Amino acid sequence: MTIERVDAYLDAHRGAFEEQLKALIRIPSVSAQPAHDADTHRAAEFVRDDLKAMGLAAELIETRGHPLVYAEWLDAPGLPTLLVYGHYDVQPPEPLEPWLSPPFEPTVRDGNLFARGATDDKGQMFTHLKAAQAWLEAVGGLPINVKFLIEGEEEVGGASLSAFVAANTAKLACDFAVISDTSQFAPGIPAITYGLKGLAYFEVIVRGARTDLHSGTFGGAVANPGNALAAILASLKGPDGRILVPGFHDPVRPLEPWERAEFAKLPFSEEEFRESLGVPSLEGEAGYTTLERRWARPTCDVNGIYGGYQGPGPKTVLPCLAGAKLSFRLVPDQDPATVAKQFRAHVAAVCPPGVTAEVIEHHGAPAVVVAVDTPGVRAAARAIEAGFGKAPVFMREGGSIPVVGLLKDHLGVDTLLLGWGQNDDNLHGPNEKFSLADFHRGIKASAHLLDELARVSP
Ligand code: BES
Ligand code: MN
Ligand code: MN
Repeated sequence: MTIERVDAYLDAHRGAFEEQLKALIRIPSVSAQPAHDADTHRAAEFVRDDLKAMGLAAELIETRGHPLVYAEWLDAPGLPTLLVYGHYDVQPPEPLEPWLSPPFEPTVRDGNLFARGATDDKGQMFTHLKAAQAWLEAVGGLPINVKFLIEGEEEVGGASLSAFVAANTAKLACDFAVISDTSQFAPGIPAITYGLKGLAYFEVIVRGARTDLHSGTFGGAVANPGNALAAILASLKGPDGRILVPGFHDPVRPLEPWERAEFAKLPFSEEEFRESLGVPSLEGEAGYTTLERRWARPTCDVNGIYGGYQGPGPKTVLPCLAGAKLSFRLVPDQDPATVAKQFRAHVAAVCPPGVTAEVIEHHGAPAVVVAVDTPGVRAAARAIEAGFGKAPVFMREGGSIPVVGLLKDHLGVDTLLLGWGQNDDNLHGPNEKFSLADFHRGIKASAHLLDELARVSP
């Protein structure tokens, strides 16, 4: 049987795959930092060269930002085509101090590979490359047609990918799409994710007097941008955790009873979750469980706040400026552009007198929910069972992957979100990690996915 030859190849190449992943991770492809632009380009070349070495037609596509890597193997006429998406860019590693080993020196501790990008998304993306390599080298071909689209601006909400997808719908045409850039439900409980939240990200800058002022001489007579910003932020949510921006909730679909019942069946302990985070209590919108809040209800969070004196010791000053970065996570039927209009109107309405408030729009993405009762999802579930030894559970996720909406809109395809990570992988934080056991299970699941999809008529 061919699949057994593939499995044997995977077993024989575990060490080699790990070394190759480490080499990719050592390239600090931090898309947000211009000082790393050459590194980011180098990571794209690494991915292109790896795809080329295994026999695919692979190209590096320059953009106004970071390059895209595209590769294809289309020698299975009449059989389905799978599009694999991933991203080779990573989040900035800062702050550096809490890292136990340097962020770009991949280090194995306790079966986990620690490094920036280990799970998000170099390690997870790489599983699909190694699965294809195993088929090509052990069997001499892939069981279906496969296209790879690997980008370098995912972490900065770059515009290059959306322009490319919109302009290349024929090139990217496919029957199935797969992304591994999410997590399993828990250790030993693999999952298929069928929903992602959307995102609407803003910055609010509040300005007062022409210059910073003495807070004794002028305080009480001149509006303070710090106090005004606090009032604006406080107006966003009620005491019940409900978002108060007028119109924001109108399109939000109520949670269906069947979905609440399914969430409730998952083995999740609110108390263990609370304890693991070190918080005194779990908080959120009244009337919803923690999983419902995290996966299926819209949220609003400050991501950063600045203004006034930040140095050591006290300084009596009335700042002339204060600002905050904040984001709304959205659920299906909420439109990021509409939320932006609503948010602008709300800030204008609640901004206290004596200051001005400017709203800057950063990136946005719509939420997605994909069908779970499809032949593709059933094939993916069988592949996960082969790779992980267990059938997957079905979950949603609070994070966002903007390309999923693009693939639906431009190619008409629902994405299989097969996450190999864990909730405590610290993606975006210090000491990011990826379990090497999950790395190899993910490669095996991906190799079996190709096999399973060959038997599914698109
Ligand atoms: N891989 C993440 C998405 C994700 C986050 C999946 C958490 C599972 C759990 C992705 O790289 C990411 O960071 N997305 C951003 C959005 C993007 C527009 C910057 C996010 O969700 O904040
Ligand atoms: Mn990611
Ligand atoms: Mn990320």
